[in-house]
Amino acid sequence: MNTALWDVYARCYDAVARLRPYEKMVLEIAREVPERPGRVLDAGCGTGNLTRALAAKHPREIVAADLSAAMLRRSQRKNPGATYVRADLDGDLAEVSGVFDVIVCGHVLYALADPARTLATLKSRLAPGGRLVLTTPRAGARMGPIVREHGILALWRFILPLLVVGVINARILRTSSYHFLTRDELSGLLGAAEIRPTYSGQSWLAVYSTGPELDLTNGSRLS
Ligand SMILES: C[S@@+](CC[C@H](N)C(=O)[O-])C[C@H]1O[C@@H](n2cnc3c(N)ncnc32)[C@H](O)[C@@H]1O
Repeated sequence: MNTALWDVYARCYDAVARLRPYEKMVLEIAREVPERPGRVLDAGCGTGNLTRALAAKHPREIVAADLSAAMLRRSQRKNPGATYVRADLDGDLAEVSGVFDVIVCGHVLYALADPARTLATLKSRLAPGGRLVLTTPRAGARMGPIVREHGILALWRFILPLLVVGVINARILRTSSYHFLTRDELSGLLGAAEIRPTYSGQSWLAVYSTGPELDLTNGSRLS
């Protein structure tokens, strides 16, 4: 998808954020993030809902990156304390410096040119003992179960922006270059990771952790 479409998506994306399954997913992601982490990165921050959940963990520093300037502006309004970077996750992330104790990447992987390459880049940016928490829509994901879990009657107040989201998602689904992964495919890309369903069973939540910090003087693990 080109940047212009993400910029349009930014105007209506927060209709999704009002869906109960999305709220539950944000809480599930937050539960995977330790209290008071050091540096955290929200990779593909969108309108900043995960950035806000990260901020509530009181990290030393939050960096929020996205390709879409419109998404970044919205996130910045919600989370003025974060550092914002316009960055393309299809690249080598040169726009973002350093390593992170926690990286979250919510519903971005499916839209990237080469998920394996981006995952390798994100993993290379984890500090020793760091953690990557990601969500991504699964193969065959549908809106129906999400809407039903929210409650169809409870939708009426924000039905218009949701319809726009539906149109954009339909466009995504018609484009073959998006990556909706099975659990095995995601597991193959991530390596040793805990993977479970989230978002009314329509997405995967994966947690990948690097090992504890290595003591390079004698090769043993630091506790
Ligand atoms: C479906 S939204 C998810 C936003 C947010 N992470 C969340 O969970 O609510 C996908 C986000 O990925 C961003 N994105 C798509 N392709 C990207 C790329 N190549 N590099 C960086 N961000 C990208 C979009 O601009 C958009 O903000």
